[in-house]
Amino acid sequence: MEAASVLAERPLAVTRLPGAVNLPVLSAAARKFGVLPMPNLAWTPEVERETAHLYEKVKAVIPSVEWPFHAPYVKAINDLKKQRNAVLLAHNYQTPEIYNCVADVVGDSLQLAKLAAKSDADIIIQGGVHFMAETSKLLNPDKTVLIPDMKAGCSLAASITGADVRLLRKTYPGVPVVAYVNTSAEVKAEVDICCTSSNAVKVVESLGADTVIFLPDQYLAKYVAARTKVKIIAWHGACEVHERFTADELNRYRADDPSIKIIAHPECPPEVIAVSDFAGSTAAMIDYVKTKKPARVLLVTECSMADNVQAETGGVTEFVKPCNLCPHMKRITLPKILDSLVYLREEVVIDPALAVRARASVERMIALG
Ligand code: 13P
Ligand code: SF4
Repeated sequence: MEAASVLAERPLAVTRLPGAVNLPVLSAAARKFGVLPMPNLAWTPEVERETAHLYEKVKAVIPSVEWPFHAPYVKAINDLKKQRNAVLLAHNYQTPEIYNCVADVVGDSLQLAKLAAKSDADIIIQGGVHFMAETSKLLNPDKTVLIPDMKAGCSLAASITGADVRLLRKTYPGVPVVAYVNTSAEVKAEVDICCTSSNAVKVVESLGADTVIFLPDQYLAKYVAARTKVKIIAWHGACEVHERFTADELNRYRADDPSIKIIAHPECPPEVIAVSDFAGSTAAMIDYVKTKKPARVLLVTECSMADNVQAETGGVTEFVKPCNLCPHMKRITLPKILDSLVYLREEVVIDPALAVRARASVERMIALG
């Protein structure tokens, strides 16, 4: 099988901030829907009573001494979502109190993109990173989309610009371009189709081409190249969380316990995937744990996901947790979600002409089913 070739002439930029407009404190959404008073955030018997069923869901991963800090926010957020007709979409990497206690919809990037398209809420709050909020806005142009922290970026999305894609097209004329959804709207506007880690091979093969440019994740590109006859030309981006895992560390875990199941995200380097029992999107990894019910498992991915699956599976599986946190995902917190609902910030705004082209790339992916 042909290995992915990697373009390496341009240094990886990892600190670029997300590109959408960061509006001042009183956003257009705040002018449209109005700002509400900040709810009382005291830990009271009423709050304790009304959140008790939610604490039941997370008690395996959140100590009881911490619940009085979370619970007033959980109650206030759930009350305000109803008042605002708002829906909170949370990625599988969000912390347990967000994922289990205030999210309306949880999932991987593909699931969140599809569910965003079906939402009938007036306001979508993205519990996730900026490219995910942009995807929600692309699929819901008439709705207000908020992200609790505009700086919640992604090292993959920051590794490539629209100008880079235009240069690639000049270098490889006629070669179709596939973009992982972990890209800005500006990049999505320049490509032929998007993909996620759960449909990347299918998307590449759907183009009927001998050669495809795949960006920006060099490791996902290698993962795809190993599973298709299509020749892959890869960009050199990497996920700062998944590239830190090594085969050596996983082999040590396995030496300690040969029965352990090791399951990895395809953003990991190939040698890490090679020593794993299974690789798949975050949703596929969760599905593996829920259906195969291994006695012990190591999730080779962002650390909060193990907490979330542990809370959902109720002690059936023991989780070994190498704690690689995504600093961007962790920018989203209960206090910032509450601020979003009260002040209607921070609003995701995409230039309409660019949005038309970027939306077409996402919709082509969704149309593949
Ligand atoms: P998934 O689409 O598998 O949820 O991955 C998104 C992501 O950012 C992984 O780091
Ligand atoms: Fe981006 Fe990696 Fe964080 Fe996912 S885990 S949002 S790919 S930096």
